[in-house]
Amino acid sequence: TAARITVSTSAPVGAIDRRVFGSFVEHLGRCVYDGIYEPGHPAADEQGFREDVLALVRELGTTTIRYPGGNFVSGYRWEDGIGPKEQRPVRRDLAWHSTETNEVGLHEFAHWAKKAEVEPMLAINLGTRGELEALDLLEYSNLPTGSALSDQRAANGSPEPFAVKMWCLGNEMDGPWQLGHRDATDYGKLASRTAKGLRQMQADLELVACGSSGSGMPTFGTWERVVLEHTYDDVDFISAHAYYQPIDGDVDSFLASAVDMDRFIEVVAATADHVKAEKRSDKTIHISFDEWNVWYQKRYEDEERITALEEWPKAPRLLEDVYTVTDAVVFGSLMISLLKHADRVKAASLAQLVNVIAPIMTEPGGPAWKQTTFHPFAITSRLARGEALDAVVSAPTIATAKFGDVPAVDGVVTRDPETGAVAVFLVNRNRTEPITVEVGLEGLAGLEIAETHTIADEDPDAVNTKDDPDRVTPAPNDSASVDGSTLTVTLPPVSWTAIGLG
Ligand code: AHR
Repeated sequence: TAARITVSTSAPVGAIDRRVFGSFVEHLGRCVYDGIYEPGHPAADEQGFREDVLALVRELGTTTIRYPGGNFVSGYRWEDGIGPKEQRPVRRDLAWHSTETNEVGLHEFAHWAKKAEVEPMLAINLGTRGELEALDLLEYSNLPTGSALSDQRAANGSPEPFAVKMWCLGNEMDGPWQLGHRDATDYGKLASRTAKGLRQMQADLELVACGSSGSGMPTFGTWERVVLEHTYDDVDFISAHAYYQPIDGDVDSFLASAVDMDRFIEVVAATADHVKAEKRSDKTIHISFDEWNVWYQKRYEDEERITALEEWPKAPRLLEDVYTVTDAVVFGSLMISLLKHADRVKAASLAQLVNVIAPIMTEPGGPAWKQTTFHPFAITSRLARGEALDAVVSAPTIATAKFGDVPAVDGVVTRDPETGAVAVFLVNRNRTEPITVEVGLEGLAGLEIAETHTIADEDPDAVNTKDDPDRVTPAPNDSASVDGSTLTVTLPPVSWTAIGLG
């Protein structure tokens, strides 16, 4: 079987914002405690952060980190996490039914983010708190000394502001599970008032209004329209969240998850543009896809919600999905979807970073290792630079129960105008057949293959574990060749491939 991808170099889709390679650290399960932070671990730094985990985070190539939640943020008092650790209050985290010790807060996160070489992106509690607390947090974080809260920051050890540019105005406020959940009108008004206040304190912030928690939400579409009608002039981004999993063993639909992500992005962009028309505005709202991943949510709902109501454990093992080869292929295809929409998706956060639905796993006192999904993220972040090019895919189709007939192959091509380096990312969703793909790189003749990576396995359910951390790793794809301006490569069944050309 054969497929063809025709790439147009003359009209790039859009510049790839490096923030698309962001991730997310929430106070949830073992993401922070026993994840990035474990005082007493042989690899811990003087503040208790694991250097081995930091090295993996840098290798992952993540650019921004959203913090501290997630559902957690809607019950969070940021002041609990500042000042001497021994004086910090212990609280009950209602979102994850856990005990929060507040050993890690703003200062510790800023210290970690610097070492991880990532830009922090903070989420504000607009579930159970309001404009004043948001203003206080901004003053504490970003103002130079000379005001009460910025002086308090300095007294707590950080005279230099944290200089956080990007702020999420709440989290998943459309979700009935969210503490302080409200309807689109109430949230839109609150987000608008909060954004206006924040900008009075610092004009050049980048603000994200909450979009939908998923395209399956009953309010999807209406939520975005109403929220943006209230906030259009106040914000820069609307968020999108999506998690994918196989339902009832339907692997074909699962492999086609990026079709849903494509549609999701396109209709949110269309909805934002509808409001743009209503407002006769010159401004374009971008999408912050600030939670995305494969998440076996059904498993969590059915089996793992075991935190009995009388127990409030500290850092319990929650949402610790172990990812297969198939999961990594779907994951790689979701990254292709984000890149295909580089004109509108200007920020994204893989949810999450460590232990909790994460590319990096740790054991207390033990090793840190890479899940299968680590590899497509790290390779894409490293190779996808510059701009995404328009690519027309012509491929055999696969019949899926959820999305109808979908192309068996999907892909995206990127080009760095500065270096001329080109990268091709491809997925084969066919479960039994290899597919040979011809990629027509018109206008890009003379390129040579610099590197190839394919994730595939005879056992699509193979996983990496503590005892076998390199069971699944990318391998070179020796079938790749370039003839003139045509790249040809054979993709094994259920596979993800990246090719760097220069
Ligand atoms: O990432 C896990 C959870 O998923 C987040 O806390 C929440 O925002 C979403 O529902």
